[in-house]
Amino acid sequence: MARSLNTVLVHCVVSVTLLWRRGSAFVCSSEWQDFCPANGSKQTGCTPYNLLPPEVDWLQLRKRLVKEMFGEDYLPMDNRPHSVTHTVVPHRFPDCLAALPRWGTSPATVCEKLIPVTEIVWQMTARLNATYAKNITSKVFLTLNSSGWAPGYSIWGADEPEAPEPPHRGKTLVIFHHGHGGSKGCPNYGDTDGTGDWLNQLGMDVATMMMPFFDCNTMVHQPGSLHAWFKLFEDQRIPWVRFFLEPVIKTINFAKERLGYERVILAGLSGGGWTTTLVAALDPRIELSIPMAGSIPCDFRLTSKDFEQFCNLHWTGIGNYTALYVLAALEPHRTSLQLLHEADPCCFHGCGRHRRIQEYGDFVRARSAGHFRTVVTEGNLHLVNPREKIIIGTLLYKMARGQAVTAADLLTPFDLLREVDAIYS
Ligand SMILES: *[C@@H]1O[C@H](CO)[C@@H](O)[C@H](O)[C@H]1NC(C)=O
Ligand SMILES: *[C@@H]1O[C@H](CO)[C@@H](O)[C@H](O)[C@H]1NC(C)=O
Ligand SMILES: *[C@@H]1O[C@H](CO)[C@@H](O)[C@H](O)[C@H]1NC(C)=O
Ligand SMILES: *[C@@H]1O[C@H](CO)[C@@H](O)[C@H](O)[C@H]1NC(C)=O
Ligand SMILES: *[C@@H]1O[C@H](CO)[C@@H](O)[C@H](O)[C@H]1NC(C)=O
Repeated sequence: MARSLNTVLVHCVVSVTLLWRRGSAFVCSSEWQDFCPANGSKQTGCTPYNLLPPEVDWLQLRKRLVKEMFGEDYLPMDNRPHSVTHTVVPHRFPDCLAALPRWGTSPATVCEKLIPVTEIVWQMTARLNATYAKNITSKVFLTLNSSGWAPGYSIWGADEPEAPEPPHRGKTLVIFHHGHGGSKGCPNYGDTDGTGDWLNQLGMDVATMMMPFFDCNTMVHQPGSLHAWFKLFEDQRIPWVRFFLEPVIKTINFAKERLGYERVILAGLSGGGWTTTLVAALDPRIELSIPMAGSIPCDFRLTSKDFEQFCNLHWTGIGNYTALYVLAALEPHRTSLQLLHEADPCCFHGCGRHRRIQEYGDFVRARSAGHFRTVVTEGNLHLVNPREKIIIGTLLYKMARGQAVTAADLLTPFDLLREVDAIYS
């Protein structure tokens, strides 16, 4: 009796959840009426935002943003982490042939190899007043090019391949920022959805990072509400955006000055895409930035629910998102590729917005000497999708081979924006 009641209850909960989900499901419409005026409107998600003059001194604007976000005239120069720890983590080759039952081997270990992981820890002190301060920890997991590594099995009695090369360091580093993602391997690895591993297999060294207070950066005494916590700093004009950007900038310092990396590429998903856009705007050492589903200008409706991404913060009165896109491609040797998903149910979808996305792209291209493009790919998930992986992989390889990225490299048949469709039709 008790059991059947439970079953009924479970069914009820499941149906209610499904109904609730169905009720609030994201509907991709080609007729989105989501332009928001600068003084806001009654539409949900149309909050007031700062309007900026169309013509500005971009270098001056970058300096003012650095001052606003860091409280100093220069980006942090520190290249000495709080700690650097080397570990090894078992890596499972997902489609290892030896895992097939007919091979007769034990799949639990035969497809596994140990890969080296370096954990780099940064600490920042967030001081609000004389009596309240908090140390924020930000972790980075460095994993290396594993394209020559191979699962340990023999095929017809011979090792395949004969002499696999263990993961080793190259000259190009990809910083991949997972945003608010929760990882499977934390605290050892921090690779939320396997993007880090995919990049390693592709041949890249990867520094995996995430938002402060999230995932591997979770602290024992977390602030109760992050929204309220950051607002305390914002209200008192104490620089706080730095808590998000500083660990990335220091990781670049460490990578270039201490580890000898020649090129650093910054990419990220969601909150990591937002972080990518901000850091790339401020730090010209980033030659290629790839923010994914991380921001859209504030005249689009419902831009974000995360406090740090709000459109009325003090920093947005200096430079808005469009301005950040200009800065990420300002110098001739730099490229910024913004990736959005057509039907992303979480954030920054492309559907119904193609024309206006092209318009801000034109604005950015007219003001930057480097390359900028927004590519909207098919996709209804808030994840790095296979189409994006092809686009990203190609750009990364050009960079790793020391070849210049051209505007044509950003044209792809996966792009749903009409202008590009015309080129390929
Ligand atoms: C915004 O400005 C317009 C034009 O001045 C005005 O009609 C409208 O009421 C204002 N909206 C809000 C939410 O203040
Ligand atoms: C963003 O800033 C640019 C340049 O300062 C300006 O032309 C544009 O209208 C602004 N867009 C929004 C949505 O505030
Ligand atoms: C410092 O900030 C904390 C947290 O908001 C607050 O509880 C405390 O009263 C403040 N102290 C002073 C001296 O302002
Ligand atoms: C933060 O870390 C520094 C250096 O490790 C330490 O001296 C300080 O007491 C810490 N502050 C807080 C608020 O934990
Ligand atoms: C990655 O490692 C493999 C095997 O050692 C090497 O052949 C390849 O050039 C490396 N890839 C890059 C981009 O450096």
